[in-house]
Amino acid sequence: MSRITALNIRDYKTSGNKFSMVTAYDYTSARLAENGNIPVLLVGDSLGMVVMGYESTIPVTMDDMIRHTQMVVRGTTTSHVVSDLPFMTYQESPSKALGNAARLIQEGGAQSIKMEGGENISEAISNISRNGIPVMGHLGLTPQYVHALSGYQLQGKTHKAASKLIDDAIAVESAGAYAVVLELIPKELSELITSKLSIPTIGIGAGPFCDGQVQVFHDILGLYTDFVPKHTKQYCNLGDIAISALQKYAEEVSGSIFPSEKNSFSMPQGQLPTP
Ligand code: KIV
Repeated sequence: MSRITALNIRDYKTSGNKFSMVTAYDYTSARLAENGNIPVLLVGDSLGMVVMGYESTIPVTMDDMIRHTQMVVRGTTTSHVVSDLPFMTYQESPSKALGNAARLIQEGGAQSIKMEGGENISEAISNISRNGIPVMGHLGLTPQYVHALSGYQLQGKTHKAASKLIDDAIAVESAGAYAVVLELIPKELSELITSKLSIPTIGIGAGPFCDGQVQVFHDILGLYTDFVPKHTKQYCNLGDIAISALQKYAEEVSGSIFPSEKNSFSMPQGQLPTP
């Protein structure tokens, strides 16, 4: 089976199939996600927080994104890999944006790119998509704008803010995006935006009416407990399982239980030098 394309994702809207996307940051998480039947993997710049330990996504660089995109691509054969353009790599000019998008595709191996913003980046979206690189938009809570938004808060709560988000969504679609992430907005607003667009909306903290849903790998598996957002659901608690397994390993090493005979190798007879 060949890889899922941006056009296939766009068609999910017309077929009415709700689809899932999850973040993946390396070979192992990508393999797990693909084996878990997730059709779209996002190499999100959230890797800055959950993998690199930064307080925000702002320090993440092009080189970080390229390196992690390569890992995710190596771990997959059929899932679509979309990779984030990091902070300030697409605002300066549409031609710089195209150059950086091309690096994620050519050096990273991604099949499409994602970028945060609405009308303010529509020229960049249009330059990239016109030149053959599929673009996923991202509106609502856009973590790269955290300082301007005064923190990670619900967006689009007032008539004015909601109208601006609707205009931005239409601008992103008109610029050529094949899908758009809606993050942390009221469910009534995401329903309205979903009904107005002909491209799929992918929600995170945006309620049940979007065409698809995206979640952070570490959140749904219980691996990142510094902050558990309301919009997430922990499908298991791998963090606790990992801690108790590691504690058991440490105990068995101090108690001389591990390694056992089963985990050891023997010298062929007569080969051990005399002491
Ligand atoms: O970087 C990321 O993980 C994201 C998702 C939250 C959509 O952009």
